[in-house]
Amino acid sequence: MTGFCVLGCGTMGKALLTGIFDSVAENGVPTDVPFAVPDKYFACVKFAKEVEDGQRLLGGRAEFVQHSGNVRAAEQSQYVLLACKPQVASEVLGVAGMREALKGKLVLSILAGKTIDQLQSMVDESTRVVRIMPNTASRIRESMSVICAGPRATPTDVEFAEWVFSGIGRTMQLDERLIDAATALCGSGPAFVATMIEAMTDGGIMMGIPFRQAQELAAQTMVGTAKMVISGQHPAMIRNDVSIPLAVPSVVCWRLKTANSVVPLLAVSRRPRSGHLVWASKRPGLFCPFGKIAQEACMFHRRWHQLPLGHHPFSLSLACR
Ligand SMILES: NC(=O)c1ccc[n+]([C@@H]2O[C@H](COP(=O)([O-])OP(=O)(O)OC[C@H]3O[C@@H](n4cnc5c(N)ncnc54)[C@H](OP(=O)(O)O)[C@@H]3O)[C@@H](O)[C@H]2O)c1
Repeated sequence: MTGFCVLGCGTMGKALLTGIFDSVAENGVPTDVPFAVPDKYFACVKFAKEVEDGQRLLGGRAEFVQHSGNVRAAEQSQYVLLACKPQVASEVLGVAGMREALKGKLVLSILAGKTIDQLQSMVDESTRVVRIMPNTASRIRESMSVICAGPRATPTDVEFAEWVFSGIGRTMQLDERLIDAATALCGSGPAFVATMIEAMTDGGIMMGIPFRQAQELAAQTMVGTAKMVISGQHPAMIRNDVSIPLAVPSVVCWRLKTANSVVPLLAVSRRPRSGHLVWASKRPGLFCPFGKIAQEACMFHRRWHQLPLGHHPFSLSLACR
């Protein structure tokens, strides 16, 4: 038996297991790989209710166990995915018998902010660690996961991590010194993109488009643009394709390019008949000094109001500081 155990099978753990099961159902068990493919899955959670819910969700394809069974599950597994919250990692790995259970095994960690060194210090030196930063789009198998191999990890370990995480989206290998940046970019990225979709949706609503339609227009525009970039088109070319001098996209793009960072979003919508700009939304991002943004937004509003915008009904601006 080749066991795969998820220590802390919450949102991400379930998404990953679902990804593996779906990928095996679609493509079959891979045969031309250098690692042993798991054939038994354990999912460890804290509360009894989660055991029942998880069992129902995954239809018996993984054995759900409560935390008192963590060590037993790890003992029966060749691979362990650490997916609890980072703050309980030392408790989960420090429990009696866990160090022994993980000896000589591969630990895949998705804990935000826990370095390979920190993780390595919590386990035996024979335990190999690979650190991964996926994102929440794992749930629909559209994650962008960054993989960093620890010093003891073998190329086969990395291939195994690639197999697991390619089940839930795309993967990329990066040096660990870049993982915090990657965490901000693609780990937290869905929050930024969702905020932009909300802002665009709000702008649509301000112009009279019903919520559902506005949200679909905004989201599909985002998907289409992202796919053009992934297929090789440069963002500048895409921008140029929709921008003519002094039209709204040009002005907004100029504003974006002169901004200093990319965290907060401000959507502005212009009602052609009343001829004035309306703030569709002001949404501070994670590190947003909101007062400054609002102040800047007001200045922008005034300047914008004087521009010969013609009949352009709507625009979106990312105002950044
Ligand atoms: N969410 C994201 O978008 C995202 C993106 C990248 C990385 N991550 C990382 O992924 C990890 C998990 O995040 P999440 O959003 O999936 O969190 P979550 O839904 O809260 O999952 C954590 C799981 O750990 C379980 N747990 C807690 N103590 C335990 C113990 N002693 N033994 C066994 N299981 C235990 C919890 O069980 P109960 O449900 O029974 O309490 C829960 O199922 C975090 O470290 C986070 O940094 C998350």
